[in-house]
Amino acid sequence: MTRLIKKTIFPGIILVFLLTTQGCKSAGDMKKEAAQPLSQSELLTLAQTPPMGWNSWNPFGKNVNEQVIRETADIMVSSGLKDAGYTYIVIDDYWQGTRDSAAGKLNFNSERFPSGIKALADYVHSKGLKFGIYSDAGTLTCGDQPASFGYEENDARMFAEWGVDYLKYDYCYCPDYGSENNDYKMAIARYQTMGNALKATGRPIVYSICEWGPRSPWLWGKEVGGHLWRVSYDVGDKWDEPRNEHSQIGILTAIDVMCDLERFSGPGAWNDPDMLVIGLKNSGYIKGGGCTPEEYRTQMSMWCMFSAPLMLGCPVSNMMDETKSILLNKDIIAIDQDPLGKQAFRVWRKDGVEAWKKALSNGKIAMAFLNRNSKETTVSVPQEQLELDEKTSYEAYDVWLHKTVKQPASSMQVTIKSHETLVFVLSPLTK
Ligand code: GLA
Repeated sequence: MTRLIKKTIFPGIILVFLLTTQGCKSAGDMKKEAAQPLSQSELLTLAQTPPMGWNSWNPFGKNVNEQVIRETADIMVSSGLKDAGYTYIVIDDYWQGTRDSAAGKLNFNSERFPSGIKALADYVHSKGLKFGIYSDAGTLTCGDQPASFGYEENDARMFAEWGVDYLKYDYCYCPDYGSENNDYKMAIARYQTMGNALKATGRPIVYSICEWGPRSPWLWGKEVGGHLWRVSYDVGDKWDEPRNEHSQIGILTAIDVMCDLERFSGPGAWNDPDMLVIGLKNSGYIKGGGCTPEEYRTQMSMWCMFSAPLMLGCPVSNMMDETKSILLNKDIIAIDQDPLGKQAFRVWRKDGVEAWKKALSNGKIAMAFLNRNSKETTVSVPQEQLELDEKTSYEAYDVWLHKTVKQPASSMQVTIKSHETLVFVLSPLTK
């Protein structure tokens, strides 16, 4: 009898106890418990090559809505952009509604997103694409929308429940925003808080830090869980513009900011010189005057030499042939996505022309020649000045002409249009 009690009644009591204690917990609590935080090594596998996709800010800004996102997802597939590697679709600022501060819940703007963000994420996923969203580490976003300060865990959990795969996290209205001390400890704390909250959701979410550079995010971005960090202010649709706090910079300015930051970038975590302006032609939300085809080609060339994230910033409907030929150039994209993940560094500079070198996998080398001059320029540079072995002969493949081009022995000679960048993949020839 005692044995029977032990065998049947005692386990029964335990079962009832377990059921009742579990029964006290809400469904939400159970869900929270189910999430297994991601480990640091799992997180780093998320961006082994620089993320590629599309972001709503440059073309649509305040006017983003669910129709725009759905159409963009459709065209990403039909235009071949998805097959070329552009997989993330990121809604930037202005998706938010009000914050219910009692419940801590951030609502979406139901006028512009009547079906809700979850349904939109599902639609994007149904196209084989990934879905990204935007928030900010301060009390308001840069567009004065409710932001995540103090609500990091709630927001991260909601993003994960919606199926978010990428979060761009801005720095407006943080406690030190607007002060001149550029408090990097404050920035580390704010980005770490959201980094931890994302990790705790158990969902793999690419974390894009958008602090714009004054607090040197390349020094701490990876430690707080970041996969990419902006190195400077917003790139406008313009060639050159000096860097002033919070104002637009030009393509060339961003290139100069990237110089010397190469040691901080690599598989898992990347320097981000901002989104692409290619194809905007001074239309869309951000403006800036527009760029020439050569200047847009330079942005693509140098961003790929830098192993920079490639986030498209033009409307993808009615892209001009010129835009398509730049954005869909598989040869230049292959340089960006090369598994070694090296950022190019400047090896040579003279009379307004400079050469940038990037090691590729399989012993190949990418070499770019950028012409800052307002006129076409021809240069001839001995191999050794390009930090190439002077005794090795290389086959030079021009990634914009899509063919191998002849080069003189032991040097490189190039004619570059104003503001153009030529890029070659050099393969050592065995004797
Ligand atoms: C900042 C960012 C931009 C964009 C806007 C949105 O300026 O740098 O990329 O996200 O905010 O308000």
